[in-house]
Amino acid sequence: MNTPLAGHVAFVSGAGTGIGYAVCRSLADAGALVALNDIDPDAARDAAARLNEGRVADAVRAYPGDIADVEWVRATIDEVGARLGGPHICVANAGITRFGSFLDDEPTGFDRLMAVNLRGTYFTAQAAARAMIAQKIAGRIILMASVTGIRVVGGLGTYGISKAGIMAMARALAVELGPRGITVNAVAPGATVTERTLSETPHYERDWGALMPAGRANQGSDIAAAVRFLASPEAAQITGQTLVVDGGWSLSGRMPEGY
Ligand SMILES: NC(=O)c1ccc[n+]([C@@H]2O[C@H](COP(=O)([O-])OP(=O)(O)OC[C@H]3O[C@@H](n4cnc5c(N)ncnc54)[C@H](O)[C@@H]3O)[C@@H](O)[C@H]2O)c1
Repeated sequence: MNTPLAGHVAFVSGAGTGIGYAVCRSLADAGALVALNDIDPDAARDAAARLNEGRVADAVRAYPGDIADVEWVRATIDEVGARLGGPHICVANAGITRFGSFLDDEPTGFDRLMAVNLRGTYFTAQAAARAMIAQKIAGRIILMASVTGIRVVGGLGTYGISKAGIMAMARALAVELGPRGITVNAVAPGATVTERTLSETPHYERDWGALMPAGRANQGSDIAAAVRFLASPEAAQITGQTLVVDGGWSLSGRMPEGY
């Protein structure tokens, strides 16, 4: 088996289901040891157990906790470093989606979204960068943006604002961390079939697939492939970029009926 990430430790947030889970699978398949985070402790433990099936050792370990809790994030990344080493790779994937109009918005929902999507991503990246610098690791930080940070999707204003911020974050951190040997990039998925998106919209895959020039909606594995590339030795000279993975959707921005 080809294991280019053997000897590397990856921390992946929000990975009990969906895209983060697919990322953990891909990184573990490439030989990495994976610290899998989710706010839902059962989801984190179940996901780690499923991903370890058929592997020699426990390649994936569960780290349940809320990524918006900065003290918890700092302590956990320190613990990962002490127990497993690294992290050499940090995938700040955890993010929440919230629908609603600007004129009806209230601070509570806005603050929680920003606490997870922006503040959580920012301080996860910071904790990982500090650990990488302390251990002289030429690390990889990958942030999870979205095409809603590029094209406006009705009802997802605050979400899109947070994701545009994440793309700016990748650029800002890349400049500061470049001299330390660390790259920082974002991945911007388009419509991706996950447990959550299917539960919100039963015909999600069909509706979005019909609007994507590539002719199908994303699967989690499409996003995981982009993350794995950015985490690989081949991507050493790529930093501050946002890699859009959307089958070409953002080129036209066409929306399904009823959105
Ligand atoms: N699915 C898509 O179509 C899509 C498109 C563009 C961008 N994204 C982004 O990709 C990332 C993953 O998306 P998804 O659809 O797989 O997510 P999801 O909604 O399925 O959530 C994945 C996991 O994150 C966990 N989580 C939620 N809040 C958390 C927190 N505060 N701390 C730790 N874990 C938390 C959830 O319990 C869940 O198991 C998100 O940042 C999302 O914004 C998704």
